[in-house]
Amino acid sequence: MSLQDHPRAYGAAALTVAFAAGILMTLGFKDLYPDLEHRFQDSLAEKRQQRRAAALRRGMSKKSESGGWLRRSGTTTSTASSSKQQRLKRRQSSSAEAGVMLEDHESNPVSSDEDLDGDDWSLLANSSELHRATPPVADGIAGCIGDTPLIRIRSLSEATGCDILAKAEFLNPGGSPKDRVALNVIRTAEAKGLLVPHRGDTIYEGTSGSTGISIATLARALGYRAHICMSDDQSLEKSQLLSEMGAVVERVPVAPIVDPSHFVNLAKRRALEHERVHNDGSKGFFSDQFETPANAEAHRRSTGPEILRQVAAFSGTRHAHHHLQHQHQHQTLQSPLAAFVCGAGTAGTLTGVARYLKEDAGLRKGIRIIAADPQGSGLANLVRNGVLYAATEKEGTRRRSQVDSIVEGIGMNRMTATLDAGLHLIDDAVSVTDTQACLMARWLVEHDGIFAGSSTAVNCTAAVAIALTLPPGSRVVTVLCDTGLRHLSKFYKKVGELSAKDEANDTTGTVQPDQHGDDLLGQLGLKPRAVKE
Ligand SMILES: Cc1ncc(COP(=O)(O)O)c(C=O)c1O
Repeated sequence: MSLQDHPRAYGAAALTVAFAAGILMTLGFKDLYPDLEHRFQDSLAEKRQQRRAAALRRGMSKKSESGGWLRRSGTTTSTASSSKQQRLKRRQSSSAEAGVMLEDHESNPVSSDEDLDGDDWSLLANSSELHRATPPVADGIAGCIGDTPLIRIRSLSEATGCDILAKAEFLNPGGSPKDRVALNVIRTAEAKGLLVPHRGDTIYEGTSGSTGISIATLARALGYRAHICMSDDQSLEKSQLLSEMGAVVERVPVAPIVDPSHFVNLAKRRALEHERVHNDGSKGFFSDQFETPANAEAHRRSTGPEILRQVAAFSGTRHAHHHLQHQHQHQTLQSPLAAFVCGAGTAGTLTGVARYLKEDAGLRKGIRIIAADPQGSGLANLVRNGVLYAATEKEGTRRRSQVDSIVEGIGMNRMTATLDAGLHLIDDAVSVTDTQACLMARWLVEHDGIFAGSSTAVNCTAAVAIALTLPPGSRVVTVLCDTGLRHLSKFYKKVGELSAKDEANDTTGTVQPDQHGDDLLGQLGLKPRAVKE
């Protein structure tokens, strides 16, 4: 019996063959062009992010139009009395009893005819607040490093008329951008055979604390030991944390870099002594964050690209993202961010991100790289006048050999390989006093719920100062380096003293212990942007 003799059987066989061919083609197509699948997923993710950013921008303009955010019970709600708002009002009054401040976002997923009574509290947070892209399963603690959020700081943006966007590096597992550096330094050393896991190898570093904490975090996870040297003027909670994490900690008196007992020199010496002291086949490795190219390179390869992707998605500009994917290094592109503002301790973050934005991504038009410099640091003078010098270094006035500030982690008084390699990328600097940093830290807690470390407070102050020199609507990116939890005993003691002084000097009785006024620029001593006629 042949198929030609039986049209029905012929038809069924033809369908089966066509179906199988279809499946094979689809599979083959995916295997041959996996890139298409990635690009499709990327474009979906990008569209989702752009929609979220657009919703955020719509929400922001909505807010300024109506002034209608819900406040605590007893104050205003927005104008119209729609049923939705009445339901929200009911919600609001019961939430006020619990001391919760709720906000009405336009993109709230609550539908207009939905009954909000009952225990559906979670519905009041809008989807972009609660549902960030769910990250995939991470491979250990090292897999959690990077991809930190970029946060629009509302109060600073409102005060300046610019978008102040801050990279939330304190959300790295080790609590600072130094996780990226520590990981890159360790992987580079492993590739060179300088570190071998589970042999008893020890990583030595001289650090103000953050790099040590990142090294201690990763050392245990990747099969090493950590030995951290730091000066004894750094906050106690950082060295306590290091000890709890299993690192050996040496706190040494403050000394100039030419002194062999300086914490960096000590760490280097301990690494050299390791084999003789331990004599068990293990090696000592000095990670040398001030001089190693692996430091800035970590930021060039991760922090910088993340910032550009996030700003491009926020601003809805496709070209930067497109450019990023297609690597047109030699083009000169208009930047979607007007300034990147960041303090420098080793200058790894500042110069690494700058190199990516200006050189790799080709953003040479309309972008300025700004060093945020604490008092006592010589970097601002180096950037502006070519001499690494701070007024506090004047003969007879110098109180200590480190940067003369209560701010920890940033400020430079000596040229390092990292700074030298990236100095040409820095366009300007903003000097920030300790008092300004304390005021900014207090402001961020009171207005934005951001409990910032001292270097973050310097970064944000400098970002505000720079924003005031830029056209309204510009985007300024800075870094939230670590949280105030690492600065309770020193920096926040000063913040507390400042607040107590303010309250004691207050003759009007208007200064409340947790509310120090709404004039950010006045508090910081900054002049508002001159209004152009
Ligand atoms: C809290 C904190 N912020 C900022 C920095 C500065 O980062 P970088 O060394 O990349 O200049 C450091 C450096 O240790 C730090 O500890």
